[in-house]
Amino acid sequence: MTDADFPISPEAWEARAREVLPREIYDYYAGGAGDEVTLSANRDAWGELFLRPRVLVDVGEVDTSVRLLGEVLPHPVVLAPTAFQRLAHDEGELATARAAGATGSLLVASSLSTVAIEAIGAAATGPLWLQLYVFRDRELSADLVRCGREAGCRAVCLTVNVPVQGNRERDANNSFHLPNGLEMANFSGHVQAHMPEPGGSSGLDRFIAEQFDPSLTWDVVGWLLETAGLPVVLKGILSREDARLAVEHGAAAVIVSNHGGRQLDGACPTARALREVVEGVEGRIPVLVDGGIRRGADVLRAVALGATAVQIGRPYLWGLAVAGQRGVERVVELLVSDLRRALALTGSTCLREVDARVLAG
Ligand code: FNR
Ligand code: LAC
Repeated sequence: MTDADFPISPEAWEARAREVLPREIYDYYAGGAGDEVTLSANRDAWGELFLRPRVLVDVGEVDTSVRLLGEVLPHPVVLAPTAFQRLAHDEGELATARAAGATGSLLVASSLSTVAIEAIGAAATGPLWLQLYVFRDRELSADLVRCGREAGCRAVCLTVNVPVQGNRERDANNSFHLPNGLEMANFSGHVQAHMPEPGGSSGLDRFIAEQFDPSLTWDVVGWLLETAGLPVVLKGILSREDARLAVEHGAAAVIVSNHGGRQLDGACPTARALREVVEGVEGRIPVLVDGGIRRGADVLRAVALGATAVQIGRPYLWGLAVAGQRGVERVVELLVSDLRRALALTGSTCLREVDARVLAG
């Protein structure tokens, strides 16, 4: 397949991926929790923020670069942590890591990867963070953090919104589970993927109930700072209060996220929560955001509301499913070029200087 055969719009990538993926895998990637209200609200809420272009500005050159935790990134599109990428493509996380390097994207590798963090680190040529779920067996998580640091991860991204799994009815209906031949490669030999209970919960749901520590409190941040010796980023913040607590506990950044609508259905869409988190943080640490970011204008909107960078999840999984590494690259290239266009069309030359004035009142 050449670039000319690739889809263009985010919806067309998803449609193509849906054709190539088995139903239960497409549903696991695409689905949300409950009635999927938050899943669709994430998309809609960006669209509700209208833009306020300025004209007759020289936009011959536009600069999309941002600074994040001491690093200059050529653009603010981060590849969000997503589990089980070998379900989409045989090369899985390795293809994603190579694509991240080729497109200058920061990659956040999931704890629940189907390729071990050592191999992801070896394939990565750009900045890499490790996403962490803290298990009941704390030593397993500590070991993973140590492997991540040795693999070159520059920060640990602790996901704080999965004390229990969201109610993923598609996965329950499909009896979703990791097929034979795939494993949670970071815990090889230490944990078992689960089979679903017919008519009950998916294999992943059972796994999370058994392994994830539901008793975590803010103390875990201090523990992780000490264990990792790396900056700790908290993913899954949606309120002003938690934003303040994150700063007080030493987080290096927060990510406004409702897990792409996969956890609490009815949770606030991230475009809306972003404002109050930015207020709570008061400029002390960077704020990132994910959920429903599909277009360059969405990235611009997020930055206008105070985000330093954005993450995408499903869009690059569709790229991976359709065409492996090149598919992920193409999805990112299209989004970044759409961002450049949105900057030019709003009369903005430098993304770092974009602020709320670009939004219509
Ligand atoms: C996720 N997400 C996620 N988050 C995380 O912290 N650890 C993980 O292992 C996963 N796994 C995962 C799998 C799949 C299939 C999806 C779709 C999502 C959440 C992810 O990081 C991010 O918050 C959302 O995907 C962002 O929303 P969009 O861009 O998918 O709308
Ligand atoms: C998910 C978990 C693994 O969203 O984070 O599927």
